Amino acid sequence: MSDDLETLREQTVQALAAATDLREWDAVRVGTLGKSGRLTALLKELGRMTPDERRTRGGALNRLRDELSRLIEARGQELETAALNARLAAERVDVTLPCAPDAQGLLHPITRTIEEMAAIFGSMGFQLAEGPDIESDWHNFSALNTPAHHPARTDQDTFYLPAEASGQPERVLRTQTSGVQIRTMLGQEPPIRIIAPGRTYRADHDATHSPMFHQCEGLVIEKGITLGHLKGCLSDFLRAFFQMPDLPVRFRASYFPFTEPSMEIDIGWSRRTGQIGTGGDWLEVLGAGMVHPRVLANCGLDAREWQGFAFGMGIERLTMLRHGIPDLRSFYESDVRWLRHYGTSPLSPAMLHEGL
Ligand code: DAH
Repeated sequence: MSDDLETLREQTVQALAAATDLREWDAVRVGTLGKSGRLTALLKELGRMTPDERRTRGGALNRLRDELSRLIEARGQELETAALNARLAAERVDVTLPCAPDAQGLLHPITRTIEEMAAIFGSMGFQLAEGPDIESDWHNFSALNTPAHHPARTDQDTFYLPAEASGQPERVLRTQTSGVQIRTMLGQEPPIRIIAPGRTYRADHDATHSPMFHQCEGLVIEKGITLGHLKGCLSDFLRAFFQMPDLPVRFRASYFPFTEPSMEIDIGWSRRTGQIGTGGDWLEVLGAGMVHPRVLANCGLDAREWQGFAFGMGIERLTMLRHGIPDLRSFYESDVRWLRHYGTSPLSPAMLHEGL
């Protein structure tokens, strides 16, 4: 290579190394390969040379152009990567920093209770299940051993959707989340452990009843499940939910069409002060029982092979007890002062810090 080409090469290599950002790099690129760049100027001179001179000089120039192009390209990539890394480092979010204190918005206490239930039952191996608010009469009643004209239906008067208009089987706004039991047993093979929180509806409206409210259903189907499992599971749940390891829990015989035996579960409290956990009085908080063999049969399960228990509870009711909220209607009034008082930060999720 002739001296002037060697010099050009050296100087370009040095200039590239000295370029510390893409702007400086681009100046080197344009100054070398651009329209009036140094190498371009040399290439233009070829036109004025004799064919012999042009052949030697042209070959050398082309090789130099290829080499410099490669070097320039490589340095450009290097600087681009460096720029990206610098940006990533500068914009890195420190997830360990405490959250912004003025974060807007709080979770409604119903949402919070559902999250707490999911955390507690989740730690016992339960999964979340869902069903539709508009439910078939069959899932809501008949499959749960509550056929048409069964007296238990009158306790759960609801909103009926016209059957003819839709061409579908008779449908209701579900009066209970218990229909999710049926959907789950029909939809998956046991063993089953689910809870199903969700909206429910009844034609009721006063200080302790709302036409729309929330329930949480639970279902366990496994081999060899006994009443002992039901008692252990629900005692653990109530003690974790009320955060009282020695909360008194009482199981009292009752009746539901879809369980046999059936029971209502009470917790200890004081009727006089409203305090939970002491006082010698009992307060009913949920219904439960061993799944009725006819319900298992309706879902194609053989009661000699599979057993299980089910339970259902009112989410508003448990939330009112837990936080001392006196009136059910306040849950749906969207009074911002109430929401601020009873809401919880979405940034501190329900967790079982202390375990079960
Ligand atoms: N579905 C019942 C109700 O709305 C609650 C209930 C009781 C659910 C006993 C159950 C159960 O699964 O076993 O009153």
